[in-house]
Amino acid sequence: MRRIIYQSTASPEMDRAALFRLVYQARLANERRGLSGFLIFADQHFLQVVEGPTWKLVATFEAIRRDVRHNDVTIIDERSITAPLFRAWRMRCFDEGGAAAALAAMTAEAGVALPKVVEDAVQAFFGCDRARANLVPVQPA
Ligand SMILES: Cc1cc2nc3c(=O)[nH]c(=O)nc-3n(C[C@H](O)[C@H](O)[C@H](O)COP(=O)(O)O)c2cc1C
Repeated sequence: MRRIIYQSTASPEMDRAALFRLVYQARLANERRGLSGFLIFADQHFLQVVEGPTWKLVATFEAIRRDVRHNDVTIIDERSITAPLFRAWRMRCFDEGGAAAALAAMTAEAGVALPKVVEDAVQAFFGCDRARANLVPVQPA
């Protein structure tokens, strides 16, 4: 199994209605493919953790990467895992509330302490230190 954590910039058309459509489609597809994870939408950016059988994950991530509903897709972490953390979340969406609420829900679902890389990615995303974390190209001054 494998897990990918990435961040991206949502297209300007992305709003709550478009987000709900996207998540609805993703859940149906993830159910079929045995994928799970979460998607955070804040400040017109996405942070997604998607995990599952390697072959299904790689194929789905290629589709995600090409999706025009976002750009600047930047992988934060990609690694082999022995078991999914968020098995029951066919794609849990967080679009309001801060890092603390999201991390509490994630820890409850995982049933174990979150891997540092997941926790750090969520903290950094909500902390808006994307430029400092070097996750998104910085505009020249
Ligand atoms: C931010 C974002 C997250 C997405 N997450 C998923 C996902 O978790 N699973 C999925 O199948 N598609 C996801 N998609 C949609 C894919 O890009 C693509 O539309 C979908 O996999 C196509 O599935 P299909 O080939 O079965 O129609 C996501 C798209 C975006 C923009």
